[in-house]
Amino acid sequence: MPKTLGVGFVGAGSISDLHAPGYNEKSNSKIIAYTDVNAELAAVKAKKFGAETSYPTVEQLLKDDRIDVVDICIPTAYHAKVAVQAAEAGKHIFVEKPMARTVKECDEMNAATKKAGVKLMVDHDLIFFPPFVQCKKLITEGGVGRLIRMRAAHMAGHRYGGWRNDPNITGGGLLIEGLVHPLYLSRWFLGELEEVSAMTGRTDDIPKAEDVVTIMLRSKDSWGTIDANLNGPPPLWDDHLEFVGTKGMLIANGAETQIIRGPPLMHYHDGLWTMYREQTYESWPFPNEIEWSYPKAFVYAEREFLSSITEDREPRVTGADGRRIIQIVEACYESASTGRTIKVS
Ligand SMILES: NC(=O)c1ccc[n+]([C@@H]2O[C@H](COP(=O)([O-])OP(=O)(O)OC[C@H]3O[C@@H](n4cnc5c(N)ncnc54)[C@H](O)[C@@H]3O)[C@@H](O)[C@H]2O)c1
Repeated sequence: MPKTLGVGFVGAGSISDLHAPGYNEKSNSKIIAYTDVNAELAAVKAKKFGAETSYPTVEQLLKDDRIDVVDICIPTAYHAKVAVQAAEAGKHIFVEKPMARTVKECDEMNAATKKAGVKLMVDHDLIFFPPFVQCKKLITEGGVGRLIRMRAAHMAGHRYGGWRNDPNITGGGLLIEGLVHPLYLSRWFLGELEEVSAMTGRTDDIPKAEDVVTIMLRSKDSWGTIDANLNGPPPLWDDHLEFVGTKGMLIANGAETQIIRGPPLMHYHDGLWTMYREQTYESWPFPNEIEWSYPKAFVYAEREFLSSITEDREPRVTGADGRRIIQIVEACYESASTGRTIKVS
């Protein structure tokens, strides 16, 4: 029986609430402590999610020997500093997306984890979202023939608030804070991305950076587009994906989408549409039923990371993967500012 892994949260804000349920006996882990610059919030969350304690500082949390894994859920600007501290304290690191603001910060994180011999996984959670996992399976099995095109939507029916409006903290605007998701999905489905072209825009003065983005992508054999903005009427949200291949098509209805509440997944092949339904009973799935739960993506991502520790192997999303996505983000910003298509070597 592998040892139960102790988890310490750095950051007790909104996304940490979606992480907490994944740390339980099913994943051989337990939450030991929280820390947050808002010490009161850390104490509240410790109580709510059954942690043993809360600490006023990151340094104190890192001294707790019961903690094997540090889960970093703080604004992007602070990811690198805390990850380096955690690695130096000998802790494994699960860090929220985007890995960091710049490739340079990602390099600091990867150097520290390599030196300390600890594991790091970036939370590219939608790679674990069941309808997208099913898309990957169908594409790999030839269910659309040769994959030619992928189209990703990212429309949030709300404006960013708080730290997300400050480019010094996020590293930019919608492109880095939101579009890391469709970028890592595009790389996962299309293969390594080789070339990008991006246009960005600002529709008013509230965000201090872009809130409209269009991206074109090319891999060795396929093409993709990302169509994104923060301008829809609240609370609409759209993050659906579409795939076109020589023998079929897939439309996956997204994790947080509230626009097209149709089936979670539709597959066109051999002249017919297969419609997937949302799974009703967890332990009793019907044919063509699929789990359609955004929070489950976080649980599955965490299970993967914890298994990689007990099995002593690389996690599915490494620090190199996180860095590559930030490199692509930087190429998109360069394209938007120069008007050129950028090769991402
Ligand atoms: N995977 C996803 O889909 C997803 C969704 C939302 C947010 N995120 C990412 O998660 C991270 C956190 O976002 P959030 O929505 O939880 O933000 P949030 O503002 O709700 O929470 C952040 C918390 O971190 C605390 N904090 C700030 N600086 C700190 C520091 N140096 N040390 C300790 N605590 C600190 C704040 O007090 C706050 O409680 C960001 O990187 C964000 O991009 C990912």
